[in-house]
Amino acid sequence: MRITDTSDLWWKTAVIYCLDVETYMDDDDDGVGDFAGLARRIDYLADLGVTCLWLMPFYPTPDRDDGYDISDFYGIDRRLGNHGDFVEMIRTAHDRGMRVIVDLVVNHTSDKHPWFVSARRSRTSPYRDFYVWRDEPPKKQEPTVFPGEEAGVWEYDERTEQYFQHVFYRHQPDLNIANPRVRDEIAKTIGFWLALGVSGFRIDAVPFLIEPPEGVDIGDPHEFLRDLKRFLQRRVGDAALLGEVNLPYREQLQFFGGERGGELDLQFDFLSMQAMYLSLARSDPAPLIASLTSRPAVPPEAAWANFVRNHDELTLDKLTDAEREEVFDTFAPNDSQRVYGRGITRRVPPMLAGDPRRIRMVYSLLFSMPGTPVLFYGEEIGMGENIEIEGRQSVRTPMQWTDGKNGGFSHAARGRLVAPPPEDGYAPQHVNVQQQRNDADSMLQFVRHLISRYRVSPEIGWGQLRILEHDGRGVLAHEVASDVGRMIALHNFTESPQRVQVDIGAVEDGTTLVDLHGPDRIALDPRGKVDLELAPYGYRWLRVSPRGDTRIG
Ligand code: NOJ
Repeated sequence: MRITDTSDLWWKTAVIYCLDVETYMDDDDDGVGDFAGLARRIDYLADLGVTCLWLMPFYPTPDRDDGYDISDFYGIDRRLGNHGDFVEMIRTAHDRGMRVIVDLVVNHTSDKHPWFVSARRSRTSPYRDFYVWRDEPPKKQEPTVFPGEEAGVWEYDERTEQYFQHVFYRHQPDLNIANPRVRDEIAKTIGFWLALGVSGFRIDAVPFLIEPPEGVDIGDPHEFLRDLKRFLQRRVGDAALLGEVNLPYREQLQFFGGERGGELDLQFDFLSMQAMYLSLARSDPAPLIASLTSRPAVPPEAAWANFVRNHDELTLDKLTDAEREEVFDTFAPNDSQRVYGRGITRRVPPMLAGDPRRIRMVYSLLFSMPGTPVLFYGEEIGMGENIEIEGRQSVRTPMQWTDGKNGGFSHAARGRLVAPPPEDGYAPQHVNVQQQRNDADSMLQFVRHLISRYRVSPEIGWGQLRILEHDGRGVLAHEVASDVGRMIALHNFTESPQRVQVDIGAVEDGTTLVDLHGPDRIALDPRGKVDLELAPYGYRWLRVSPRGDTRIG
């Protein structure tokens, strides 16, 4: 059977939607979103066309890093519900044809995790070796991930008079994966959530996770990742691993397991995301083209997860200093809109000055670049950040459902909300699901349409990328082609209309271009040269349709 005939590799054509249960929908009106609330919104997500939910951490937590500081890998934060509510939500999602993946945060635990509480009680604790301890921090210390919030990655423990390692916050001690007991606990955690019905995991901070403590030899650290993948597959054959690996492409390839695969199934494409913003700042697709064309060939089962915004700072760490300044100057001119010296704390619409043409062009790109698109909740309605909230939290405000109290997220008093919605032009009165549902020209209906077009175009997930020659300025013309089909897409990065002649290459007689966003059917001459018009910041998706093609829409 040809590989593209199988649906086992569901992540190759998925639409992934990231949300945090605590900010999505509050069922019991305590001001915090919960699983019962999310279950009531599954129909909305199915109608949008989402095929896979990615749930940010919902485990018991002291909540000092928005839940990425976990004190029980098997539990559910009581504010969000219990395991029964979790299973009900999963069942509802499955019923509507949607999978659910969950965050797996096992590079570290919270310092309130019983393992660490025990480990720091005495050097002879049975859990001491679950963490990384040293009498002295290494001479050459890794820089902290959170400059301005942390000074380093080693913290002194007074009681046991040793330092412990924490790549992230000091309240997030790193687990010692050189310890086989720790690796077994990680596998058991995976097995537990799979048994409750999840279809895979978004793995947090993968390069840090697999790196053994300095000076400890565990052989090839990727063997650990291969082990996890094999274990996962034994338990649930088509479960997937989506990894957070913000590294140069050459190194990312290793995390797919090289050309043979066998490690992560999906990885976020941090590089093309950053290049895209540089392209937007310059009204020139060249940086994005350079990035997309330098992606290494990956195994056919593997996929790039494309995104334009996530729950963290919009990192620009892989641009040069000068490029980063350019993007900062254009999209985050005030210091308060920047964080850690490398990232932006804004959502897409405010960065693009609310210009619907530009915003739509960006999402059209997201859904047409080869790979699997990942949306962060609220993007589909063009939510903005709350400018009153500093740092990464600014984009983690409640989902805006209606123009009513608290945006329809909760009936609790505003002061009890998990986070306050914005009060500016992006407040729920102006940006909400209900109003956009009834407006055929809204952002919501636009994204819904994009998703429907993406879902009838599996070549986007499966296809090979080719950048097409043309005679225009500021236009990206690309093709995605595989044996399931062939599509070309054009994106105008400039504010002027463009007329371009695109060279698709020779085609068989009778081939037409089918516009996937409108009624146009363009007959191609066999040389494959075609004149196309683009509005300012316009975009087009055109299926290359051979004579006798039976695909519709
Ligand atoms: C990456 C997550 O995306 C981020 O939100 C978190 O703070 C760190 N990992 C630490 O878990």
